[in-house]
Amino acid sequence: MPLVTSKEMFEKAYKGGYAVGAFNVNNMEIVQAITEACREEKAPVILQVSKGARAYANHTYLVKLVEAAVLECPEIPIVLHLDHGPDFETCKACIDGGFTSVMIDGSAHSFEKNIEVTRKVVEYAHDHGVVVEGELGTLAGIEDDVCHAEGSYTRPEEVEEFVSKTGVDSLAIAIGTSHGAYKFKPEQCTLNEKGILVPPALRFDILEEVSRRLPNFPIVLHGSSSVPQDYVKMVNTYGGKMPNAIGVPEEQLRHAAELSVCKINIDSDLRLGMTGTIRKFFSEHPDKFDPREYLKPARANIKEIVRHKLVDVLGCAGKA
Ligand code: G3H
Ligand code: 13P
Ligand code: ZN
Repeated sequence: MPLVTSKEMFEKAYKGGYAVGAFNVNNMEIVQAITEACREEKAPVILQVSKGARAYANHTYLVKLVEAAVLECPEIPIVLHLDHGPDFETCKACIDGGFTSVMIDGSAHSFEKNIEVTRKVVEYAHDHGVVVEGELGTLAGIEDDVCHAEGSYTRPEEVEEFVSKTGVDSLAIAIGTSHGAYKFKPEQCTLNEKGILVPPALRFDILEEVSRRLPNFPIVLHGSSSVPQDYVKMVNTYGGKMPNAIGVPEEQLRHAAELSVCKINIDSDLRLGMTGTIRKFFSEHPDKFDPREYLKPARANIKEIVRHKLVDVLGCAGKA
């Protein structure tokens, strides 16, 4: 089937108590790893492209890679989505250039300005059959030290006005997740009986209040990598230095998927899988220099990371 929007995907996910995985793509191996796992597990999928990905790989290359995946995986629905669209012009370029979904991230603006820029994107997108994700509340990197401050969480009392005035099709909210591999400081965590650091719980109270105010409306979670400790260990064992890399516990993502969260964004886990695998490969084979030899195991491991997410975390396996 051709590229689809996320409309029907989210309706089914909402009713079915699962979430669709939104995985960031930057190159051919990552596109292949994600879509092969989804095809084998019969899962719908959102392939998302950031501003940085477009700058790195070029819009046309990324669109053509995704179109190739659509041809290779005709049985599963695939959405091509702009991640964190910074402005109207970037969203327009993606809408005109073959994307079926865009995010306009107006979260750095005032509430009023966020509504204004989001509304403008929605009008253009809907005229062209494309759906739009907006954002309320701010996610931040841990270095900003603001991601868990009260002020950056989504304010549930704002969501109805934002959705009705903008016409967005889905809404990203901030409930304690953040981007990257360092989501929590060790001092924010508690040690469990196995000696593993457990981060503070996400603010499910905010998610529940948002859902009460927006019945049947799809919610999106960004910053949802779990930062698998096996891969952190692999990176650190083979010459890397990623101390205190901590992600969102998978049980919490599973719980969010059972509620109103229909799209869960995962990027850092795939990066970690690729980097850990390549570091290990070079350490074990210092004489090798053919990129196919180290990208092949990296692609295979990313595929298994995605499969695990589909089956054990998102609950979307078998839902295509
Ligand atoms: O939310 C950010 C995504 O992980 C994309 O990251 O801007 O480095 O491509 P990027
Ligand atoms: P992670 O950094 O947790 O993978 O989040 C990715 C994301 O939210 C992309 O928009
Ligand atoms: Zn994000």
